[in-house]
Amino acid sequence: MCREVDPEKPQCILELGAGTGPVTEVIRSRMHPDSHIIAVEIDPELHAIVSRRCPDVDVVLGSAGDIDDILDERDIEAADCIVSCLPVPSLPKEVNRSIFDAWSRRCRSEVFTQITQIPWYFMPMYQRLFHDVEFQLITMNLPPAGVYHCSNLRSDYDAPERLAGK
Ligand SMILES: C[S@@+](CC[C@H](N)C(=O)[O-])C[C@H]1O[C@@H](n2cnc3c(N)ncnc32)[C@H](O)[C@@H]1O
Repeated sequence: MCREVDPEKPQCILELGAGTGPVTEVIRSRMHPDSHIIAVEIDPELHAIVSRRCPDVDVVLGSAGDIDDILDERDIEAADCIVSCLPVPSLPKEVNRSIFDAWSRRCRSEVFTQITQIPWYFMPMYQRLFHDVEFQLITMNLPPAGVYHCSNLRSDYDAPERLAGK
């Protein structure tokens, strides 16, 4: 999940769907000391937990569908990388459209990093959205999980049939 997090370079790292903060904590331990994490979580209880767990992180209570507003409010032109723990297949199409649109305009990394707890299952969905999708199985996770490293967003990614779940 932290492949795009560069310990050698200050970055703005945007984490979507921080939950209770396990990935946030790993990003924080790996990143350059001058890097800045913005962790977005929609659930107020989980937002409170991750805020307590990572008090030095900028934790936003809000939706990943509002990336433009979140960056604008902080006068940040673009994030260096976006790490997503979102349940992308079950999010409303408009939210996914907004996330991928903002990612394509306001993320410097060419890779969209997405966690999954069901290895390979959603590969066709990510391949409908991106030309290039690499799947990395993480056997050390119990049960084994994985990461999609997606690049080259398709020009028609926002067509309803491409945004449909699974
Ligand atoms: C699968 S959990 C991952 C939590 C944590 N990152 C982890 O790895 O354990 C997905 C998280 O995304 C959050 N979420 C769902 N929709 C969201 C949205 N539109 N914007 C921000 N967070 C959202 C959920 O509340 C949940 O905490």
